[in-house]
Amino acid sequence: MTEMTAAPESRADQRPLDWMKRSTIEGFAALIVGGGSGMGAACARTFAANGGKVMVADLNLENAQRVADEILGTGAQAMAVLLDVSKPADIEAAVKKMVATYGRLDVLINTATWSANCLLEDVDMQDWSKAFQTNVHGPLLLARACLPHLRKSPAAAIVHVASLAGVVGYARKSAYGPTKGALITMSRQMALEWAVYNIRVNVVIPGTIDSPLARKMIRPEVLADRERTIPLGRLGYPSEMADLAVFLASPAASFITGQAINCCGGFSINSFVVPAGMTETLREAMQREAREQAAGE
Ligand SMILES: NC(=O)c1ccc[n+]([C@@H]2O[C@H](COP(=O)([O-])OP(=O)(O)OC[C@H]3O[C@@H](n4cnc5c(N)ncnc54)[C@H](O)[C@@H]3O)[C@@H](O)[C@H]2O)c1
Repeated sequence: MTEMTAAPESRADQRPLDWMKRSTIEGFAALIVGGGSGMGAACARTFAANGGKVMVADLNLENAQRVADEILGTGAQAMAVLLDVSKPADIEAAVKKMVATYGRLDVLINTATWSANCLLEDVDMQDWSKAFQTNVHGPLLLARACLPHLRKSPAAAIVHVASLAGVVGYARKSAYGPTKGALITMSRQMALEWAVYNIRVNVVIPGTIDSPLARKMIRPEVLADRERTIPLGRLGYPSEMADLAVFLASPAASFITGQAINCCGGFSINSFVVPAGMTETLREAMQREAREQAAGE
């Protein structure tokens, strides 16, 4: 007769249950790429505010330095570095500097992105390559440069940032969607291959988040229309995406790997913004009914 395996309850599960009250990333060090603006900056602020140390890496050193200085002003640990994620030498130098300074690298969060805007039939193939270099090759090289240090961490995690454009079709965005789709698939493969090293790899898929990039790329009237189609009725804050990214990067998410998780206010499930036979969204109908009721009282 085969021996009974131990009952699950007898395995030592020593996870703290009060993780919402106390930090699970105290003392951990995160390399945050694209940390000079928008969601990357929010990730750096949130990681540092919860007791972590951050390296704010960005193509724009001035912005990265501003974010690092702001964090230093709160008493947390931060430093800035110039890094172009499409340049292997920049990646190697940043990782080396980070480990020399903090003595560890537990978390990689990458938000950097680049792409042109045009129809597939008009794509300049140099732009196509540059987008893949920045949005796919760069994240692979980054993760590989971090790998030896992540393997030494007690709770290593990588968070890549994709887009709904990598899940559904997104017209006139050139290589943007294809690179984000590749990033999601690559992250799943990385999660499988690096699970043996106890490194978790996940992807955050932001909806429309009110960042400098969104303000630059999307016209104000389109942003207003987008708010109408987001069930929660507004754009997201970079800090809301950062909460998800830092959670995924923390030991609180210790059994989550290989997942692509939306942070979009319900946008991705709202196929019928204005239901068939109606002329307004649910939110607009309820607001109108409330106005009518108030007027009738
Ligand atoms: N804002 C949105 O609504 C939205 C929606 C879906 C997905 N996203 C994704 O979220 C991520 C962050 O977007 P954001 O809105 O915070 O943008 P953002 O422009 O505010 O910040 C991006 C940062 O990345 C830096 N960067 C760009 N190219 C780089 C490179 N080659 N090397 C290093 N740094 C580089 C920029 O200098 C900038 O500081 C991107 O990957 C984007 O595709 C954003």
